[in-house]
Amino acid sequence: MSKHEDDVVSNPSANVHLQELVDQRLANPSRRDAIRRGFGLAAVSFIGGGSAAALAGCGGSDDDPAPAATPSRPLGFSPVNTSSGDAVIVPSGYSAQTILPWGDPIRAGAPVFARDASQGWQAQDQQVGDNHDGMHFFGFNDAGNGPGTRSDEGLLVMNHEYVNPEYLYAPGDDANDWLLPFTSDKVRKALAAHGVSVAHVVRAANGTVSHKLDSSFNRRITGYTPMTLSGPAAGDPLLRTAADPTGREVLGTLNNCAHGYTPWGTYLTCEENFNGYFGWNGTRTPTALENRYGITQIGFEYRWHTADPRFDVNATPNEPNRHGWVVEIDPFDPNSKPVKRTALGRIKHENAEHVLAADGTVVVYMGDDERNEYIYKFVSSGRFDAANPRSAANRNLLDSGTLYVAKLEGAAGSGRGTGTWIPLVQGQNGLTAENGFPDQASILINTRAAADRVGATMMDRPEWISANPNKRGEVLCTLTNNNRRGTTPASSNAASGANVAGAARPAVDAANPRSNNLWGHIIRWNEASGDPKATSFTWDFFVLAGQPSVSGERAPSSNINADNLFNSPDGLWFDRNGRLWIQSDGSFTNAGDYANMGNNQMLCADPATGEIRRFLVGPSGCEVTGVVMTPDSRTMFVNIQHPGELGGHPNAPRNAPTGQQQIGTVWSLNQTARDPTRFSRFPDGGGSGRPRSATVVIRKLDDGVIGS
Ligand code: FEO
Ligand code: CA
Ligand code: CA
Repeated sequence: MSKHEDDVVSNPSANVHLQELVDQRLANPSRRDAIRRGFGLAAVSFIGGGSAAALAGCGGSDDDPAPAATPSRPLGFSPVNTSSGDAVIVPSGYSAQTILPWGDPIRAGAPVFARDASQGWQAQDQQVGDNHDGMHFFGFNDAGNGPGTRSDEGLLVMNHEYVNPEYLYAPGDDANDWLLPFTSDKVRKALAAHGVSVAHVVRAANGTVSHKLDSSFNRRITGYTPMTLSGPAAGDPLLRTAADPTGREVLGTLNNCAHGYTPWGTYLTCEENFNGYFGWNGTRTPTALENRYGITQIGFEYRWHTADPRFDVNATPNEPNRHGWVVEIDPFDPNSKPVKRTALGRIKHENAEHVLAADGTVVVYMGDDERNEYIYKFVSSGRFDAANPRSAANRNLLDSGTLYVAKLEGAAGSGRGTGTWIPLVQGQNGLTAENGFPDQASILINTRAAADRVGATMMDRPEWISANPNKRGEVLCTLTNNNRRGTTPASSNAASGANVAGAARPAVDAANPRSNNLWGHIIRWNEASGDPKATSFTWDFFVLAGQPSVSGERAPSSNINADNLFNSPDGLWFDRNGRLWIQSDGSFTNAGDYANMGNNQMLCADPATGEIRRFLVGPSGCEVTGVVMTPDSRTMFVNIQHPGELGGHPNAPRNAPTGQQQIGTVWSLNQTARDPTRFSRFPDGGGSGRPRSATVVIRKLDDGVIGS
């Protein structure tokens, strides 16, 4: 996409200044003077004085300056080709190493992974979870006991989004149904595979990364870890259950999709498709609230409700309301209790991208990933105290503030427009008792309906949101795809909030311009005056994915060419040098509309020019999601999620005729469970075992900055 005049990469933002100060302050509490001098002055030394080259060989010093704000070679690598193979592919001059696969011990003494999946929840509880997703690297301070800026040692904290029952459980005795008998122990094994892993990792002199098994920081947080509900909705009657009559303590976090982190050194895990775990036994007429969040009789067919009454909505009707939140975790305190922050609203949270405004206000951007849902931002009431980042006051900044939802407008086909942030505040914009919102808690628990009421813009599945570190107020969001856009008859999310989740079929609009949006796009907005707190913005597109041979309404943007094809952008992350990393979670059929796109992949973009190059291709049946680097930008972590999901992959085993690919029906889950290495053997290879989600460690062979 063509460069716009306002793409001033050399204009460092106030939020970057403040974040870098925070990094330094976390690393070295003696630097009060730099902070007292003010953000602007300090920023000159960190941004102007730092350079990528100056960091060569660092890895242990808290005194290293931040990397350069503007990369000297934005895209300095040779792009890789697509692939439908069962391997991770990285550019020439790079290496890839896998660590922390599902099932490996989280700490010394934990059970070694059994490749036949015969272990129960007691083992899984002490092992790395499944389906790795968003993650953050928290470098240690010099003392190795708290957050700092070290790149050679730190805590890699990652989400485990869901489970693949065909790989999670060893088959039972029923030839037609490997899951039988389905028991409460099986529910608990699945719960143990969800949540978050905190893994203490160390980089050796040769660049390899290992998991420090004997560290007391190693921790699993699961679907049954006790956690606190805080903020305006805590204690609300809709959050109370028989097991928790206070409505203030929940067991576990579920469907931990992408993530965020805070300037005070904590991790945010975002609960996405929580609805899929619930169902009901017997009969039930779902409430409007249940319909709006997609609670159905059999959910996503996990069967949990058949064996654990917590997931039977007839038995525990309020349990779904206790999920769909952003959860804050302090990885540096292994005994800390996670906190669900209700002020950030209840949606199918993708990630939580924070930006610090110049005055220290904390702004958190969030997408609700479902067809025709919305984009939100939270603006804190309090201000971040950069001089005391770990203070108690900072730690509760996410409990009080204003939640906004986005409305985007523009001329049809113009590819740009304006937007407003509409506050979701009780008593304003129709959010009144007579419309079903008697208090702020009712807005936060039924955030979707509140957004319906104020006329927010239905988007093509908002996934990750990332803020440009080099341009104050610029934010990008992946809109992964939407096969219910522009189909007939058209319908919208009803202002009453009565819609069933994902049921609307809106017409195309300026910000979602393609009917049956198979390939997805990335939207970019700039807050008014570059202020993250602003209530208005302008927007345009960073990319419309697709096939360059297609013209007309479905045509991709001009920065898509035969060498960088992809579909369904999902993961999105600006590194601290300003490179934009795009990860895909889409069709890997490599045929028809998806021809020449291959397996899911990760690309790198130059935000100034719009150029996009393919950096990595994942193995068979995977999604590539989750990416972060060490502070020196010389070690990258990328998560490979659900290798071995068959979908319509060209190499998926099929039933007939025998031995021929791409003919016949793809294997069932039951068949897959009984021959779990037939399709993918990532990352273990060999003849036994099963595909496992894992983290890939990437570095440059010359120890340079990744992407340069
Ligand atoms: Fe968990 Fe929307 O991806
Ligand atoms: Ca995602
Ligand atoms: Ca996705």
